[in-house]
Amino acid sequence: MIHVKPILRALFPNLYKQLYIAHKHYTQSKQILAEAQSLKALTLTQGFEAYLSAILNSETFHTAQKREEIAQLLQRVQRLQPRILCEIGCYRGGTLSLFSCVVARKSRFISIDLNHNPRYFRAYHHFWSNQGRLDLINGNSYASRTVERVKHLLRGNAIDFLFIDGDHSYEGVSADFQAYAPLVRTGGLIGFHDILPDYRTRYGKVTSADSGEVYKFWEEIKRRFQFEEYIQDQHQDGFGIGVIVKE
Ligand SMILES: C[S@@+](CC[C@H](N)C(=O)[O-])C[C@H]1O[C@@H](n2cnc3c(N)ncnc32)[C@H](O)[C@@H]1O
Repeated sequence: MIHVKPILRALFPNLYKQLYIAHKHYTQSKQILAEAQSLKALTLTQGFEAYLSAILNSETFHTAQKREEIAQLLQRVQRLQPRILCEIGCYRGGTLSLFSCVVARKSRFISIDLNHNPRYFRAYHHFWSNQGRLDLINGNSYASRTVERVKHLLRGNAIDFLFIDGDHSYEGVSADFQAYAPLVRTGGLIGFHDILPDYRTRYGKVTSADSGEVYKFWEEIKRRFQFEEYIQDQHQDGFGIGVIVKE
């Protein structure tokens, strides 16, 4: 019996490596899609609460959101009935998948991340398949090239809901706000994740939580707009969601 693999590897090591990587990528992407499909099916059989629990407990679509906070945000976004949504910071698609559950059909979602993982693309598109169009942009959110790409996709339309959860430095979150707030319609919402300082900032106690400096920016911005805060526990180590209404 002839073993093709060792022969291929010996004769064409580079080609073999490329095929191996492509096959691994395809298998992982298939597994992630299968998980997305079974999660999405949950909403139909067991309802949204079960779906939310599944996403919050999923390793694959891991999201560092607190249940009560994200649930309140999702309710608020649902009341807004947004047509165009934009998220800065996707990670493994936790919020991308959750927002798809609270919007009307024919919505549009633009997700920006420094490093979108291509193995997740089929799953992300599955989450948004019934809801409308999904655009994934790879790049630094506040680089002018990225902002131009978003403007191009919007074609003069305004964003109804913007979620800022990318670069958590003070400079990063303010740059995101400066670049994208003008693209949000009057009466639209801008959400921020991690508005509470973490224990390192508050007590000098280092933990795995890292809320960055969003809290600093939030304290400034909330004075200028009508705002809401969704905080599960005031004493928690970071987290917290803040929303302002664009004027
Ligand atoms: C906290 S995670 C987002 C989590 C996601 N919103 C959720 O809750 O499921 C932050 C993400 O922002 C991305 N990020 C950090 N700085 C960025 C930047 N300047 N531009 C675009 N994305 C950035 C990181 O790659 C990371 O995936």
